[in-house]
Amino acid sequence: MILDLLLAITILAVAYAVASIFYPLLAGGAGYTPTPRKKVVEALELVELGRDDVFYDLGCGTGAVLVEAAKRCDHVRGIEVEPIRWLVARIRARDAKVIMGDLFKQDISDADVIFMFQYRGGINERIARKIKGEVRPGARVVSYLHPIDGMRSVRKLNDIFVYEI
Ligand SMILES: C[S@@+](CC[C@H](N)C(=O)[O-])C[C@H]1O[C@@H](n2cnc3c(N)ncnc32)[C@H](O)[C@@H]1O
Repeated sequence: MILDLLLAITILAVAYAVASIFYPLLAGGAGYTPTPRKKVVEALELVELGRDDVFYDLGCGTGAVLVEAAKRCDHVRGIEVEPIRWLVARIRARDAKVIMGDLFKQDISDADVIFMFQYRGGINERIARKIKGEVRPGARVVSYLHPIDGMRSVRKLNDIFVYEI
């Protein structure tokens, strides 16, 4: 009986782990890898995040970026489509507003600074189209690891790219 229960729990856990990899891909975004803390700090410095900015992490994962951003900024928001990551981010980043949902369906028109760690070759460009259509001119976008094709970065530090709308 106990063995059956353990087996069922194990199967469910494995199924969830597999589904959580594919679910974000179905929603049109990257899978999960957190940005290393050193890179988060460099990105927030390079994009000159200020206390009064409205900051978004599009696909905030477990909240690594939100935690650092909240040390420098009073209006931190994250959007995450995968429920367990969303929950972890909510618990970790208490000073941030963490929204569960598809980033492509959220209103981000109040953004001053946007962080993204998604994928090159389609996803970044789709996100960039949404940003350009919604966000005020002068807003800044910082992309970790993958540049945005078709946009010229105004600043760059190794694998961190900053753009202005
Ligand atoms: C590479 S991880 C980056 C996590 C976090 N931003 C960081 O840098 O540590 C990408 C995240 O985006 C989420 N994601 C992918 N597509 C999404 C979508 N359409 N809407 C919201 N989140 C999405 C994934 O679930 C994943 O947690």
